[in-house]
Amino acid sequence: MPAGESFYITTPIYYPSDVPHIGHGYTSVAVDALARWHRQGGDDTWMLTGTDEHGQKMLRAAAANNVTPQEWVDKLVTESWFPLLETLDVANDDFIRTTQERHEKNVQTFFQRLYDRGYIYAGEYEALYCVGCEEFKPESEIVDGTGPFEGLKVCAIHSKPLELLQEKNYFFKLSEFQDRLLELYRTRPDFVRPDSARNEVVSFVSQGLKDLSISRSTFDWGIPLPWDESHVIYVWVDALLNYATAVGYGSDQETFDRRWPAYHVVGKDILRFHAVIWPALLMAAGLEVPQGVFAHGWLLVGGEKMSKSKLTGIAPTEITDVFGSDAYRYYFLSAIAFGQDGSFSWEDLSARYQAELANGFGNLASRTTAMIQKYFDGVVPEPADYTEKDLEIQQIVADAASKADASIEQFRIDEAISSIWTIVDALNGYITANEPWALAKQSNSGDEAQRGRLGTVLYTCAEGLRALAVLLSPIMPQSTEKLWVALGAAAELGALQDQPIREAGAWGVLRPGSTVTALAPLFPRVEQTA
Ligand code: ME8
Ligand code: MG
Repeated sequence: MPAGESFYITTPIYYPSDVPHIGHGYTSVAVDALARWHRQGGDDTWMLTGTDEHGQKMLRAAAANNVTPQEWVDKLVTESWFPLLETLDVANDDFIRTTQERHEKNVQTFFQRLYDRGYIYAGEYEALYCVGCEEFKPESEIVDGTGPFEGLKVCAIHSKPLELLQEKNYFFKLSEFQDRLLELYRTRPDFVRPDSARNEVVSFVSQGLKDLSISRSTFDWGIPLPWDESHVIYVWVDALLNYATAVGYGSDQETFDRRWPAYHVVGKDILRFHAVIWPALLMAAGLEVPQGVFAHGWLLVGGEKMSKSKLTGIAPTEITDVFGSDAYRYYFLSAIAFGQDGSFSWEDLSARYQAELANGFGNLASRTTAMIQKYFDGVVPEPADYTEKDLEIQQIVADAASKADASIEQFRIDEAISSIWTIVDALNGYITANEPWALAKQSNSGDEAQRGRLGTVLYTCAEGLRALAVLLSPIMPQSTEKLWVALGAAAELGALQDQPIREAGAWGVLRPGSTVTALAPLFPRVEQTA
């Protein structure tokens, strides 16, 4: 994508009925890494995250805790959801809460518009509702209960009883959008990614769409419909609107024009809301559909989707307290193919931390900076003539940088990291092959040529690390910053986050003469936990 263009990317807005777990953290760090990459590439980047605060789930969580829903969400958001961003080092540009006036007011504007355009009608409704999903369930997702729920109909996802609702509702004419949606998926094959998600959506829509209930009248924790205040807007359509209200829909046309449309990254559990209902709502309002929807897979624990309701939730701090936020980010973004499910285990996390971060990247950084300090008094040496082996490294760096950028363009963060890691592996192999300690010995005994060779080898390592710091900074902002400072690059080249990431593969950027300082281990040994 040409630099300077708008890149607006969102996470789902999470339900703060409970505390966050590593699944929420996964989506947030993925979106943050993508946003950081684009920001560093010079794109007009905006990252949004937030919380989805209305609906029955919230109402019940508050009631169970003897507080009002507003008190409950205020507490959870301040005590748990804002801190999650610190814990995981997420540099979001905005955080929207659906109880904010900037949202509520403009959601009403939006639905009034749909009503005026004839896309909304009143009708009777009777269906089975899952409060966990905040959704009327289709036949295919209703199963017979077992154990305490024997004889009841339960939700296939939550395994909890469904509730039969009979009420007057307002409906959105979703059924009218089947053809236009299918046309959208056909003409823009990248609209839904990955392919598995796209196929699921196309087959779902091909079977025909039912109109969607968009209001509820049996409780009042929500945004009132502007033309009938006895109804509140269905929590899901209220929530989807956040992506528009956060960038000025209804209030700041200039900002809206600048940012919209967005890329949405979501878990596959909420794909249909984003790839079917949301574009249809936008079409009905006469607005542009999203740039695209990317659905990632589930984190599995013991083979099942990790979730709070099934008590398999792991708090992100359990990981970051031991391994740090960089390791959290690196682990989830590299170990799982983005778009597929991935199993979490402490053993896998520990093993990769040790092998890839401590012994791989961390050791490369320590060795290189220590050798420059020892053999060149901490001054980055001038390279002499490059040999074929040195040029090979330069080629690997250039290829890794361009491949990584292409992968990020496809939202494949895992592939980008594996391209970048070819630099780590190549440089570690290069050090072993070139034995700088042996070159140092020979040059100490008066062999001037070996002194030049030693300079070339260590310059090659340092310059490779310069590229690594830039390319890995969206993934691991903290350790790359330490490395950047230790290489003397901060003093010579300016702030790490200002380095143009799409030019990271160029050679000869780090200046000979820069002062290298001591580097504490980037990934220290951890106390064995599990
Ligand atoms: O659905 N693996 O909020 P939510 C991977 N409020 N990702 C996971 C995960 C897991 N096991 N569990 C959760 C809602 N996630 C709505 C969204 S958007 C307009 C409204 C992540 O709190 C993943 O991104 O249930 C999933 O889609 C999201 O959390 C669901 O968060
Ligand atoms: Mg959920």
